[in-house]
Amino acid sequence: MSVIMPTYKRLPVAFVRGRGATLWDARGRAYLDGLSGIAVTNLGHCHPRVTQAVVEQAAELAHTSNLFRIPGQEQLGAELTSATGMDAVFFCNSGTEANEAAIKLARRHGHNRGLGQPTIVVLEGAFHGRSLGALAATAGEKMKTPFAPLPSGFLRVPRDDLQAVHDLTSNRDIVAVLVEPVQGEGGVRLLDPDYLQGLRTLCDDQGWLLMFDEVQSGNGRCGALYAFQRLQIAPDVLITAKGLGNGYPIGACMARGAASQALGAGDHGTTFGGSPLACAAGSAVINTLADSALLSSADVLREQLLSSFRAHLVDAASVAEVRGLGLMIGIEVTVPTENLVTAALELGVVINLTAGNTLRLLPPLVMSAAEAEQLGKAVAEAVNRASEETP
Ligand SMILES: Cc1ncc(COP(=O)(O)O)c(C=O)c1O
Repeated sequence: MSVIMPTYKRLPVAFVRGRGATLWDARGRAYLDGLSGIAVTNLGHCHPRVTQAVVEQAAELAHTSNLFRIPGQEQLGAELTSATGMDAVFFCNSGTEANEAAIKLARRHGHNRGLGQPTIVVLEGAFHGRSLGALAATAGEKMKTPFAPLPSGFLRVPRDDLQAVHDLTSNRDIVAVLVEPVQGEGGVRLLDPDYLQGLRTLCDDQGWLLMFDEVQSGNGRCGALYAFQRLQIAPDVLITAKGLGNGYPIGACMARGAASQALGAGDHGTTFGGSPLACAAGSAVINTLADSALLSSADVLREQLLSSFRAHLVDAASVAEVRGLGLMIGIEVTVPTENLVTAALELGVVINLTAGNTLRLLPPLVMSAAEAEQLGKAVAEAVNRASEETP
């Protein structure tokens, strides 16, 4: 029996070292990382600027608590608000916490406006985290039923169905619409930009908050600092985490306008969130993305990876659809999926499967063209092997 609770089905490998897009196991075998710790190490493993910032800050001052001003937090707050057009930030430690903060912010905003039961519209296919509030916002009964009762106050609609949201306008308790512009766990699905624009207009008309969960799609992953900037549809609340610290835990719930002032003293809090150490990592990430050509490499690498994948795929019918944006890539397959991820691992690449039949590729932005081609080839070989297993 393991001393670790069995909340994950773990792959039979342990990595002990990483640099850029490469991971090594204890025996010294190298693997190409096509997952980035699930969209976390977007700048590659042990990026020198992030490492230096964390090491220097750890040697100076790691933690003081939010009872005091934290210069590094104010600095990262200023960097994020100026880069996103948001007005204010609440820092926490994870994507779940950032969503939890956004849910509380929306409810507080609703109460400030006299709503009795502030209600948030959420989507089918959504994933927002595993705490009770974030889980209630998440789709998928299997994940939720064992933990009932969950908080109420959410209304679920199909994705990309604007009429379904229009049909809710008679409900006077609605305060916000919460969506991932690119659904990650739901199968790497970019929401239709016209739908997102329609949501923006509807939220403006109704006085609702449009809240984007960019925990997975943000921090350079989709070829812009945040995916909304590519789509040119600005949310009122922006939720992020994962790649913001490139491996150091940090989450952020940002807001603009009245919503940015909804949470007052005592309404919400965190011991660790926004520590000097976390914010040093966050600033190193934001400044590295701003100073480099990494954002523009996302589309180039995507193309290199996918053309190599297509070139090595034996049977085009093995793939139902390729989705996503930038380096958030979903390949929906028609082949048996049980052994796909382990087959890729045997071939020396790290990938992931989501939503049952979608290979999820989230390689780091620092990957070279040769590495992108190698990753595409190995993924095709894993799919080819699975195709041979098809009964
Ligand atoms: C869109 C989205 N929101 C929230 C979360 C939860 O983030 P965390 O695991 O950091 O709590 C995730 C994690 O996969 C996510 O992809």
